[in-house]
Amino acid sequence: MNSKPSASDDIHLDTGKLPCHVAVIMDGNGRWAQKRLLNRIVGHERGTETVREIVKTCRKIGIPYLTLYAFSTENWQRPKIEVAALMTLLKKFLESESRELQEKNIRLNAIGQIERLPDGVRASLEETMQMTRDNDALCLSLALSYGGRSEILRMVRNISESVASGDIQPDALTEEMVNAHLYTADIPDPDLLIRTSGEMRISNFLLWQIAYSEIYVTPTLWPDFGGDEFIKIINDYQNRDRRFGKVNP
Ligand code: FPP
Repeated sequence: MNSKPSASDDIHLDTGKLPCHVAVIMDGNGRWAQKRLLNRIVGHERGTETVREIVKTCRKIGIPYLTLYAFSTENWQRPKIEVAALMTLLKKFLESESRELQEKNIRLNAIGQIERLPDGVRASLEETMQMTRDNDALCLSLALSYGGRSEILRMVRNISESVASGDIQPDALTEEMVNAHLYTADIPDPDLLIRTSGEMRISNFLLWQIAYSEIYVTPTLWPDFGGDEFIKIINDYQNRDRRFGKVNP
């Protein structure tokens, strides 16, 4: 059976130069819905479909780490009804996708203040993380009640305790120690950060970790984003010259 040709069919990715970790600020669900005179929540529902597609695409092309900014520490201040709808969507996503994550050898991980999530969401999340913990084809991290500043503050508090008790001398502190106290301790820094919907900002996402990430901002709203555009962005990334502050020979 012939499959429908897709816009990315003529792109040939260099499998030796894939980003190891792609992080995504999924933005534009609300605007997508408002443009169609729909409730913002419909935008989040459509956004969940894009989440599925991007996870599948990463798994297919062999990207080992994907981190999605699903709910920020600031998002708690949205109207109660929108927060509740996002939590319900998240729970539904976990319940409907856990089997597929397992079958596709995908490990689910979460970063952020997981303790602030409603009990039911936390239980589904922990169950899926436990079930998929040995999977190693793709590590899918959901940033939930996540904020870069609160993550850094938590790290400073933890390290300060060791300094105060005399276990570590301040001048013995290293960047590796800082990394070890972040939610992302066992995850490499993102090589590529994608933001949808055109806003040129970082919005408190992975502040320490994106020091040398390549950034790509697309005007596409998250519900309209998909695998083809994702592959084009990976192709763009592969043509960049990453110097990490040095000079290429
Ligand atoms: C930003 O769009 C998006 C969010 C705050 C939530 C992202 C959530 C999903 C994609 C669905 C649930 C997630 C998972 C992992 C199943 P916005 O509402 O800020 O858009 P706007 O800037 O146009 O208002």
